[in-house]
Amino acid sequence: MNKVIYEDDFDLSEINSLEELQNMAGNCARCGLRGGCSGVVFGEGNPEARLMLIGEGPGADEDRLGRPFVGKAGQLLDKILAAVGLERFKHVFIANVVKCRPPGNRAPRPNEAESCLPWLYRQIELISPRIIVLLGGTALQNLVEPDARITIMRGKWLVSKSGIKIMPTYHPAALLRDTSKKRPVWEDFQKVRDEYLKL
Ligand code: URA
Repeated sequence: MNKVIYEDDFDLSEINSLEELQNMAGNCARCGLRGGCSGVVFGEGNPEARLMLIGEGPGADEDRLGRPFVGKAGQLLDKILAAVGLERFKHVFIANVVKCRPPGNRAPRPNEAESCLPWLYRQIELISPRIIVLLGGTALQNLVEPDARITIMRGKWLVSKSGIKIMPTYHPAALLRDTSKKRPVWEDFQKVRDEYLKL
């Protein structure tokens, strides 16, 4: 975890509630993505969750509904959570690296991710999770290390400077493309659940 504190003159440290942060983020136009999307997908779940999941960015379904992970990948994510006894609105808070849909479902560009990350960092500070699951390479590269490979890093615990345990795993959309990734993700979420039960 190198990029634990995001250095930016965009200071959100005075924003002390998730609701206020969400209202402010709704008016964000720090990068070009806002012009091409329907709205800001802030994230959802239990605002006091001890477990946070971080994906890449909204897709078409998420953009339309204003909620994270509600398309096919999201439905699979809910099943994975259920398989280890976790529920979206009870045990987790789900957010993304970028809060506006990149056109054509492309990965966010570095400048888009950098513009958006202060929102995510403040979300993390306000929710104060004990565990974060990074879903896929984009989350891993933007939150941990730009050159990190999800194939190498998945399944291994990392710890942030502030003591948050971090588990990188494959993005659920990758499982839809390649079913051989199901078992490793299942194993990673079992580790997460075991750690969660120790909290
Ligand atoms: N993929 C993501 O990374 N995030 C979503 O919210 C939906 C699909």
